[in-house]
Amino acid sequence: MKLFRVVPEILRFEKFRDFAEDFSLGAEDLVITNKYIFEPVISACGTGCQTIFQEEYGSGEPSDVMINGMLRELSGRSFRRIVAVGGGTVIDIAKVIAAANGAEDVNELFERPESLLRTAELFIVPTTCGTGSEVTNISIVNRTALGTKQGLVSEEMYASHAVIIPEFIHTLPYNAFAASPVDALIHAVESYLSPLATGYTEMFSEKAVSLILRGYKKIAGDRSSIAEYAGDLLTASNYAGIAFGNAGCGTVHAMSYAFGGKYHVAHGESNYQFFIPVLDFYRKKAPDGKIKRLEELLRGELGGDGIRSLEALLGRIIERKPMSAYGAVEADISEFAESTVKNQQRLLGRSCVPISVGDIRDIYAECL
Ligand SMILES: NC(=O)c1ccc[n+]([C@@H]2O[C@H](COP(=O)([O-])OP(=O)(O)OC[C@H]3O[C@@H](n4cnc5c(N)ncnc54)[C@H](O)[C@@H]3O)[C@@H](O)[C@H]2O)c1
Ligand SMILES: [Fe+2]
Repeated sequence: MKLFRVVPEILRFEKFRDFAEDFSLGAEDLVITNKYIFEPVISACGTGCQTIFQEEYGSGEPSDVMINGMLRELSGRSFRRIVAVGGGTVIDIAKVIAAANGAEDVNELFERPESLLRTAELFIVPTTCGTGSEVTNISIVNRTALGTKQGLVSEEMYASHAVIIPEFIHTLPYNAFAASPVDALIHAVESYLSPLATGYTEMFSEKAVSLILRGYKKIAGDRSSIAEYAGDLLTASNYAGIAFGNAGCGTVHAMSYAFGGKYHVAHGESNYQFFIPVLDFYRKKAPDGKIKRLEELLRGELGGDGIRSLEALLGRIIERKPMSAYGAVEADISEFAESTVKNQQRLLGRSCVPISVGDIRDIYAECL
């Protein structure tokens, strides 16, 4: 049994300028980012790198349409290194671009993942504290014809280097900042509860949970302390990425994709919908299972009843709205449950308790 693996080399710089100088970024390199991330920080470094801005190809999280537009734009060009600077959206697109190997349709890559080949070094600089995507081998794409998000997984999509630079968190708007560590927290918790968890992944999960909850406790009391915790939260997201990159995520992520894909709900916010209800389901089904250790961990950080205390703390950071507030209707419940069972077996297989289509339907109904 494989116990643990981290592929990218992990680096940290306080400023992008230090990174750019250390690696002599220049005209043969491509930076994939957003203009509003590039302008305040990267442009002033005068690297002369080539650039492509994600928002010019569509808004929201990655879709096949957006990625295909970028693949066509970059077709026939080659780069010494690709540097992705952004949230999970930019990162997941960059992973496909770096490994597309001439393909111009990401749907073809889903059909033939063996054709992926990374042809340039890939540096990933996360600018949100959520996805951990800088250390994972997966890219999550809204496949518009299927009407759901799906993960494309390949060794070829590992970055060569994951680069932690806290400077970028300072331009992140509060809502994006607040929602992103929820995703990291869910990565940490789902990987902790996964049947594939090992002593190694548990260490990363536990440390990520502690860092995020401590940061959240401070930020819930004083929003102006965000800058102080940016480095810790980025690190926590990276730890959580390492944990779930090895042990996987489970039911929360599985249920999130049909809903998030249809109603274009941001990934962290969409996961948040199902996080507490799924933990309650696990506790009801197997109160003496691994959930017990999670509850101990939560009680140690937050006191009270672990899961309820967690729910209360998260509620102080971001409001949890019912699915109907995003436009969901009764008919979605069965549609989403069936889509989840049909398209998300990889994730459902890593649930800590077996879950049936009826259970999934009940949780969607509870969240409507
Ligand atoms: N591949 C993986 O391992 C993995 C894991 C979890 C999530 N994801 C994917 O990541 C995506 C979500 O990523 P996210 O939560 O980081 O959100 P995001 O990348 O969509 O970013 C949220 C918003 O903040 C903006 N933004 C990001 N950084 C900024 C900065 N420094 N300054 C100003 N604005 C900034 C973005 O442009 C966007 O509008 C989803 O598509 C999800 O499926 C992937
Ligand atoms: Fe996630």
